Amino acid sequence: MNILDKFHHWRRKRRWDKQYKAGQWENLKSEKESKRYFQIIDYLKKYGPTNPSILDIGCGDGVLNERMKEFEFSSFLGLDFSKVSIEQAKKKNFPKAEFISEDAVTFQPTRNFDAIVFNEAFYYIHDSEKTNVLNRMLDHLNEGGVIITSIYREGIGCWEYFKENPKLKELEFTTVKTGEELQYWKIGVYKKV
Ligand SMILES: C[S@@+](CC[C@H](N)C(=O)[O-])C[C@H]1O[C@@H](n2cnc3c(N)ncnc32)[C@H](O)[C@@H]1O
Repeated sequence: MNILDKFHHWRRKRRWDKQYKAGQWENLKSEKESKRYFQIIDYLKKYGPTNPSILDIGCGDGVLNERMKEFEFSSFLGLDFSKVSIEQAKKKNFPKAEFISEDAVTFQPTRNFDAIVFNEAFYYIHDSEKTNVLNRMLDHLNEGGVIITSIYREGIGCWEYFKENPKLKELEFTTVKTGEELQYWKIGVYKKV
């Protein structure tokens, strides 16, 4: 990122903090939104190893974790560059979970994971950094692990990085519908080849 991009990136981070502080993302906990979290969990069950270690990039205040109550996992690391969202997630004291305030653009994992999730987060990463971030995370995906991505509507600036990545094979791709024409999510699950 050039200086100007870095400035906008910093401003976006501040905006996310303000929005979480103001409770603007509470709608992610609605029943309508729950369908996409459940689809991610179904993919974890179907394609991931049992009892996986999970990395959730751009985890917000931990809604995926809230939805995983019935799902067995060995560990959960949620990261988000919004300090406010991470503080909110930490307060929930989820078992086997850790939440860290980190920027996906600079985050260097210190261990490997069985599942890496970009849940409504990948398209917020600056275009010039998307390939770097994805490849760095793939270097920390265990053999037999999966990477799962969810994006609202068409996901411009997202799917090409997954579908055209020679290191990835698509296992399944679906559209989660809500009954409202313009409200849907696309979710893909991939493995490393
Ligand atoms: C729409 S919210 C989704 C939150 C959560 N994944 C969910 O679905 O409940 C997008 C999240 O991505 C985070 N985010 C955006 N860019 C990021 C970056 N470069 N590094 C880490 N987190 C980022 C935002 O702070 C925000 O919490």
